[in-house]
Amino acid sequence: MTEQFFHLSRGGVSLLIETTHGTPNVFYWGAALRQGVDPTQYLASITQPAAHAHFDQAPRIGVWRENARGNWGRPSILGHRDGKDWSQLFELVTATSTAHSASFISRDEFAGVEVEISYSLNDAGLVMVDHRVTNIADGTFFLESSNAHLPVPDTATDILDFTGRWLKERMPQRSKINTGVWQRESREGRSGHDYTIVQFVMSEDANFNRGQVWGLGLAWSGQGSHAVERLSDGRTSISAGELLMPGEVTLAKGETYQAPTVVAAFADNGIDGASHRFHQWLRSRKNHPTNVRPRPVSLNVWEAVYFDHRLEKLAQLAEVAGEIGVERFVLDDGWFGARRDDLKGLGDWTVSPDVWPNGLKPLIDVVHKNGMEFGLWFEGEMVNPDSDFYRAHPDWILHSGNRSPVTGRFQQVVDLSHPGAYQHVLGQVDAILSEYDIAYIKWDHNRTLADAAHFGKATMRNQNIAIYRLFDELKRRHPGLEIESCASGGGRIDLGMVEHADRFWTSDDNDPLERQTIYRYTSIAITPEMLGTHIGPTHSHTTSRVHTVAFRGVTALFGHAGLEWDITETTPEERVALKAWTTYYKANRDLLHSGRVTRMDSIDGNAWVHGVVAQDGSRAIFAYVALELSQYVHPMAIVLGGLDDNALYNVKVVTPFGGYEEITRGQAGWLEGVTLDGRYLQTVGLSSPILKPEQAFLLEVTRVG
Ligand code: DGJ
Repeated sequence: MTEQFFHLSRGGVSLLIETTHGTPNVFYWGAALRQGVDPTQYLASITQPAAHAHFDQAPRIGVWRENARGNWGRPSILGHRDGKDWSQLFELVTATSTAHSASFISRDEFAGVEVEISYSLNDAGLVMVDHRVTNIADGTFFLESSNAHLPVPDTATDILDFTGRWLKERMPQRSKINTGVWQRESREGRSGHDYTIVQFVMSEDANFNRGQVWGLGLAWSGQGSHAVERLSDGRTSISAGELLMPGEVTLAKGETYQAPTVVAAFADNGIDGASHRFHQWLRSRKNHPTNVRPRPVSLNVWEAVYFDHRLEKLAQLAEVAGEIGVERFVLDDGWFGARRDDLKGLGDWTVSPDVWPNGLKPLIDVVHKNGMEFGLWFEGEMVNPDSDFYRAHPDWILHSGNRSPVTGRFQQVVDLSHPGAYQHVLGQVDAILSEYDIAYIKWDHNRTLADAAHFGKATMRNQNIAIYRLFDELKRRHPGLEIESCASGGGRIDLGMVEHADRFWTSDDNDPLERQTIYRYTSIAITPEMLGTHIGPTHSHTTSRVHTVAFRGVTALFGHAGLEWDITETTPEERVALKAWTTYYKANRDLLHSGRVTRMDSIDGNAWVHGVVAQDGSRAIFAYVALELSQYVHPMAIVLGGLDDNALYNVKVVTPFGGYEEITRGQAGWLEGVTLDGRYLQTVGLSSPILKPEQAFLLEVTRVG
């Protein structure tokens, strides 16, 4: 029996798998179970009675969910051989396991397909699910889809995933699980602004701090599909996989499709519990940016100058940036070719002699002189039709038939599967990185793919593999180079890009009010230190809202902090505040980028509290953010979660880079410091000051006993 039963357990999570019906069947994924329970007892517990008007034996479906086993839901694999072999029946061939992993190879000799799936539990308690499909027979096997499913119990009632658009990424949407399929697809070549990153199913009571949650993310930046399916037979599953276009994966005999890893998080302490697992995993990687060096304060010049590149102005910006403590200066779009606006020049990665007659060195020298490193913008996957690149190689763009795809931001997509095109882009970018001292590149991707084919064949998958390869090659050639993944803001943030890029541009929306929401939900799966967060201009360029430096500063503090503002126009008072902000960030970034992110569930919706608690519970920084006026005379109390229940903490309000405006005739009693235990702070909390909308302050929390 033992070889037919696998109990994997790590990090407070268990996964139970049995193979008694000739196929691996995951029948439990949740909180850690007791070891040593007699497997026959589990098997008895999952054996269902045969039902009327159904198969004569209750089917035991297994992870491949074949139609041939009596599955009437979506099979894990859809594929065929010229219309035949579409219904496979995979019989288990080998099963191997270690303490924390198990791997199963199965085969359908008749259909000529071999599959392998492996489950591996890491330290963070995440289940990493990998699978492959191999054609082992003559002829071509046309693979249409290949997803990894995990079962969820009947206590899961809700679905939470995220949608959005340019300027408003990762908006949460919660719904009930009903019979049928709730599917979130990304069909734009990149993961996209509305990409969910992780899709959750949850118990009814689940929220940030309580309840059971099961979430799947995909280690992939191309097209993806996330789905929750409840069948009329009562089974519920959650799945994720790459979304393939027709004919995109055709396997000749001996060829294999390797699916992107599915990253599965379970927590019984709410969304923050699952979030913590994602963060723990990301931070455990050797190449995680904070394992290499602290995250420098950045200044990106986009909202300061846009395409108006003038050395004198940019040098002034660099001087003010140096003065206020910026550590990295990033020159954005407009430095190359004929790119004086977004109509032309994209794709010509040579320094423009018109705007930079002496090259970039004079600017880089000023940047270095002011104590900063230099970063540069690229968008190597794209070209304007009005470019030397396109004029020389009109055939190097993705296109179908004899037509050009509809343009987006006046641009077409470079076919990176074309060796000539790939080498051209790599060569030009490499030449710039070799000529200049460049520590960092911001790599943009400003249009969705449409009608995208490589010599007629859909190529979303290969395009994505190619950009990973290109990033890795640039890093290999330029050790220490950091890459920021940007796609009109947060259009390519996912668990695949984390392996190839070091930072995400979270959104083009620097309005702090919008950013509060975008950050709250993007940071569920991605660590704060990978999310670029900038203090933008006083008048937001995207919403025209006006905010104080303090509100913008509190918002931008919780991430990889930076500025994106014409700071040459700042008042002396604003410069003092900005200097205080960079100083505070530098003094606290070790905590902000290593601690446990905690988000309080908002009760009346007018204010949010979120924070970062040191892993040992010794200190924390929280933000209290008033979004709008409270409907109550006294807004709901400020509760601080994630602390040690029994430890004593001193809590005080700090305003190192500017205060907040309130509508009160007196002050809350504790603002200058109060000492209480963790449980009290989390349950009763502290009476809230009555803030005007769009104001915020920080709370410093220190364990004192
Ligand atoms: C879109 C990005 O999100 C912006 O930050 C900026 O880099 C522009 N592209 C430049 O074209």
